[in-house]
Amino acid sequence: MHPLFAVLKAETYPDFRERMRESGCTRCALAEHRTHIVVDRGNPDAAILAIGEAPGAQEDETGVAFCGRAGKMLDELFAAEGLSTDEHLLIVNVVKCRPPLNRAPHRDEAARCRPFLERQLALSPARVVALMGTTALRHIAPDRAKGRLAEQVGRFFQLDEWPGREFVTLYHPAAILYNRSLEPVAREHVRALAARARTDGMPAPVPPGG
Ligand code: URA
Repeated sequence: MHPLFAVLKAETYPDFRERMRESGCTRCALAEHRTHIVVDRGNPDAAILAIGEAPGAQEDETGVAFCGRAGKMLDELFAAEGLSTDEHLLIVNVVKCRPPLNRAPHRDEAARCRPFLERQLALSPARVVALMGTTALRHIAPDRAKGRLAEQVGRFFQLDEWPGREFVTLYHPAAILYNRSLEPVAREHVRALAARARTDGMPAPVPPGG
């Protein structure tokens, strides 16, 4: 079986992860300059699935999603709600390979990678899906991506293609690092997301030190 076909046929998330990492995917030009295929970070059984844009330099180097500065910001936002990004989230990206100079992925690159993102969504039991930033919003819910991001962030919505899930748009953690005035409202959004995931059966976290 072709390795990419095997990736899409994976029936468990750990199998998908392993096969994707080892696939040697060359479906788009991003393959040319990458060091690692960056599949994800976190827990495949998590109640929250977070979707970012694309791996950056550190992610490309290590093969781990959101392990650089933006990842630390994400860790902090969730830690403030008593949640660990490694335990309570599965974090993935629209594309799995680093675009040159960290540009946003092109439409055709995202389209080529889309079947893998769809498989991740299908294999994740998460009921709450966070779309972090414009790229994730544009690729998952294009109808909502026409106006300003500020009008979408913090809003929960559903999509016919993915019944039984709730989606919410968040500011991308890198945008918060770039513009720290976004941080207070971003914290509110993460608080609402955490509350939603908890009402959905996720165990209440142990408070720091408790
Ligand atoms: N930004 C992203 O969108 N994804 C990563 O994995 C790292 C930074």
